[in-house]
Amino acid sequence: MDKNTFKQEIIEEQHTKRQVNKIEKAKTYERLIPQVESLIEGVDNHVGALANVSALLHSSFQHYFWCGFYIVKGDILELGPFQGDVACYTIKKGRGVCGKAWEDKQTLVVPNVLQFPGHIACSSKSRSEIVVPVFKGEEVIAVIDVDSEGYSAFDDIDKDGLEKIAKIISPLFE
Ligand code: SME
Repeated sequence: MDKNTFKQEIIEEQHTKRQVNKIEKAKTYERLIPQVESLIEGVDNHVGALANVSALLHSSFQHYFWCGFYIVKGDILELGPFQGDVACYTIKKGRGVCGKAWEDKQTLVVPNVLQFPGHIACSSKSRSEIVVPVFKGEEVIAVIDVDSEGYSAFDDIDKDGLEKIAKIISPLFE
């Protein structure tokens, strides 16, 4: 086999691995949905329930380095339950990835946080991030924030899975 054919085979193998990983990731999110539902069903302890949801998510994915919630309190986001390194307590509207997702009322996927203007580096290890707003009607009442140590760790599968989870956990922020 010549060098170019060998190189092509490696590229194709990597592509296949990435596809398999994506399918696995989508299946994991699918499996998590009923687990999240049952974790919060009939639970009055909302802080405990959110802590459990962050633990479940964090332990389910290798690409999750930090995972938790920031909750809207007036004109700031306040740190809620999470798994991972210590984090900043408050974030202003429009600031960082979390504040921007809140302001824009939409999910933000950031492949390289070092290139995101105003990114708030709670941990210097973070390289990519996804922030998903949690809505009550039209209003954002919290955000789900997930960081990864790898670049470009989050894609449409994470967006889709986390947006479904955001809908399920919305009552916990009321
Ligand atoms: N990086 C976030 C701040 C929160 S930490 O990642 C936990 C941001 O830029 O909003």
